[in-house]
Amino acid sequence: MKKLLFIFDTDTPPNTFDVVVAYDAGADHVTPLGGISAANVAKLVEGVVFTRPPSAKKFTALFITGTNMADGEALFKAVRQQFFGQFRVSVMLDSNGSNTTAAAAIALLGKDLPVAGKRAVILAGTGPVGQRAAAMLAQQGALVTLCSRTHDRAASACEAMNTRFKLAITPAATPELPAVEDVLQGAQIVMTTGAAGIELLPEALWSTHPTLEAVLDSNATPPLGIAGIEMQDRGTLRHGKRCYGALGFGGLKLELQRACIAQMFEANDRVFDAPEVLATAQTLVLAR
Ligand SMILES: NC(=O)c1ccc[n+]([C@@H]2O[C@H](COP(=O)([O-])OP(=O)(O)OC[C@H]3O[C@@H](n4cnc5c(N)ncnc54)[C@H](OP(=O)(O)O)[C@@H]3O)[C@@H](O)[C@H]2O)c1
Repeated sequence: MKKLLFIFDTDTPPNTFDVVVAYDAGADHVTPLGGISAANVAKLVEGVVFTRPPSAKKFTALFITGTNMADGEALFKAVRQQFFGQFRVSVMLDSNGSNTTAAAAIALLGKDLPVAGKRAVILAGTGPVGQRAAAMLAQQGALVTLCSRTHDRAASACEAMNTRFKLAITPAATPELPAVEDVLQGAQIVMTTGAAGIELLPEALWSTHPTLEAVLDSNATPPLGIAGIEMQDRGTLRHGKRCYGALGFGGLKLELQRACIAQMFEANDRVFDAPEVLATAQTLVLAR
């Protein structure tokens, strides 16, 4: 029986990145569909749950992506609402690589530094990667502040994550460097998840910081989000702090995405969102 992966992308056209990774993960056939939303997905779900017999349903799976996290969440929910009894297939949410990128970073960090009880700050945390990184750190017991240039955007991202995962992430506005300096007071972890090519944290602000223990940056397009680290950093000690760059956890992100997709084909009822993707990342890190 052929392993079929349908990619539901909330963007148009659908991205090519996830198609390549899906084939590398062992899918026999990958169908990327763009412009998919909670409003138009019903027939697509019917097509995958009513076709194969129960024992073969595990060979069909769904992967949800797109640049808008809220649209991805709504689609993920709508897909699962269509399932009933045995009429279901495995499904994964990874809007813009959100879960896999955040989980790779947090799993590598967790190997070097226990995060429970630490104060963590996510700068430019309103995008898909930042929201999931905030949620994963909070799920691990960190006290998390999610920042944006505007308080409203930070508050709405926090509300989305707190509602979805029953967490208590707090919002902060960091429109300029003095506000960043304020929010970092007493923090042990800072992660930047801003749009590509935007420096958010100058080296002077973190290198001599009295409490920071780890700095992580998800941006792989120069200039980096955190000045003074290297893209390839993976727990590299700089100024006495553990540094992680986008390429430092990019390899694990890809391995993780392939592992989650492969696991979807093992049963017809797997659901991969932040907790499941992070657990898979931690398993991969332990096995290294
Ligand atoms: N390493 C990997 O494997 C990997 C995988 C996927 C993505 N990425 C990278 O991870 C980063 C985050 O991705 P994403 O999709 O979550 O990001 P995104 O949605 O494009 O941007 C995140 C946030 O950046 C802030 N921002 C945008 N322009 C800004 C500016 N000029 N100045 C300051 N802040 C600005 C915005 O926050 P506010 O408007 O709320 O301030 C925005 O919500 C990106 O750099 C992406 O390239 C890496």
